[in-house]
Amino acid sequence: MKKLTIAIDGPAGAGKSTIAKKVAEALNYVYLDTGAMYRAVTLMFLQSKKTFSPELVTKLAEEAKISFQREPGLNRVFLNGEEVTEAIRSLDVTHEVSAVSAVKGVREAMVKAQRELGKDGGVVLDGRDIGTVVFPLADVKIFLTASVEERARRRFLELKAKGMAVRQEDLAKDIALRDKLDSEREIAPLKCAENAHYLDSSQMDIPTVVKTILKLCKEA
Ligand code: C5P
Repeated sequence: MKKLTIAIDGPAGAGKSTIAKKVAEALNYVYLDTGAMYRAVTLMFLQSKKTFSPELVTKLAEEAKISFQREPGLNRVFLNGEEVTEAIRSLDVTHEVSAVSAVKGVREAMVKAQRELGKDGGVVLDGRDIGTVVFPLADVKIFLTASVEERARRRFLELKAKGMAVRQEDLAKDIALRDKLDSEREIAPLKCAENAHYLDSSQMDIPTVVKTILKLCKEA
């Protein structure tokens, strides 16, 4: 059977990574979390303790050696040989990542790496610009979204289960801000690709979304 390239784009907290992982597992494909790559560059920038400049973050993006190691239920992320799986999810990284990912040189370096990693097909990529920029000819394109309230509610339950004290209203504000920054940036803004399937998961559970996408893959 042909090895497909499957692009799953959408706003923050829409469940893209959970869904993309399950779709990849079901098809025995590789899963590529492109958001983790922008997060890794952001972590590198924060660790540098230098003042933000497009030149600096571009240089870091070009130097970054990002790799993934898949384990059942866990997608481990490595940056320049060190594991950063947890560190890239910190609030500091989350707050800075949209500024870093808006820089042209950063995007160029990441897109080049993503195209290389996905060039053989048999891959599920999730992000913001996969169907529009990285793989515009992807076999299946999904735009996965949900209301801000629902996304904040899910993130709240997730963090609460990890024992973190957060307020759902704050999460909703963070999510709405990140959506705004990612959608309004000049280069590769978050938007639904012309021929993408638009899935609003506000009222759908995970197995239903996975099933819907697998059906689209079969048809492709
Ligand atoms: O998917 P995640 O929320 O981890 O992505 C973190 C950030 O990385 C996004 O808010 C966005 O700024 C950036 N990103 C991007 N393009 C992608 C994936 C993520 O600009 N393909």
